[in-house]
Amino acid sequence: MARLKVGVPISGRGSNMAALAEACADPAFPAEIVLVLSNEQGAAGLERARAFGIETATIDHRGFPDRAAFDAAVTARLEAAGVELVCLAGFMRLFTAGFVEHWRDRLLNIHPSLLPAFRGLNTHERALAAGVRLHGCTVHFVRPELDDGPIVMQSAVPVQPGDTAERLATRVLAQEHRIYPAALRMVAEGAVRVEGERVVYRNDWNNDGLLVDPPLA
Ligand code: GRF
Repeated sequence: MARLKVGVPISGRGSNMAALAEACADPAFPAEIVLVLSNEQGAAGLERARAFGIETATIDHRGFPDRAAFDAAVTARLEAAGVELVCLAGFMRLFTAGFVEHWRDRLLNIHPSLLPAFRGLNTHERALAAGVRLHGCTVHFVRPELDDGPIVMQSAVPVQPGDTAERLATRVLAQEHRIYPAALRMVAEGAVRVEGERVVYRNDWNNDGLLVDPPLA
C-alpha cells in the first residue's frame, strides 16, 4: 500500500505534529510524514520530529523580501520531499492566496475552536469571555481567508465552571491530538472529498450521542 506523503509546517512546540507522527509510526497507517518544516530555527518541534526519525528543514521567513517569495520557497521544499498533503500544525505565518490555491484541497489545518466561531488567536480567552458552554477544535481544509475552509472533523469540549484559559486549552489540546490523526486517516484513505465548499464523506454514520452542557437533569 502506498502511503500518502505528508509535510508538516510548524513554528513552535509541535505537539500536534507529534500526534500525527505517532499515528504515522504504525506502518498500517495510510500516511507518513516525510518532512517537518519550521520557519523558526529553534522551534522545539524540530527536535521532536528528529526523535521520530523524520527529516526536518528550517526556512526562516525573515530572509525573504515578501510573503510570496517565502511561500514559493516553502512549496519548493515540500515538493522536493515529495509531499502530497500539507498538515499545518501551529504554523504561525499566514500564507498567500497563491500558496493556498496551489495546495487547494491538499492543505489541512488544526484550529483550537469550533469554527466558524473564534477565528484567529486567543481562542480560549475569547470563548470564556463569550460564555459559550461548548468550545473545542476543528480540522479543516485551508482557504485564503484566515481559519476558513471545509470542515473535516470537530471535537466539542464543555467549558467547566471556574475554567481558566490554560485549563480549557489543555483539554482542547488533548482533543486536537485525537482528531488530527483521525482526520488525516480519513483524508489519506480517500474517505472525504470537498463538494461546494463542504466536506462530504464516503460512508454515512449515525452519531446520536447528544452533547448538552450543562447536563440535562
Ligand atoms: C494548537 O493549539 C493548534 O490548534 C494551533 O496552534 C497550536 C499549536 O500547538 N493551530 P502545537 O505546536 O501543535 O503544540
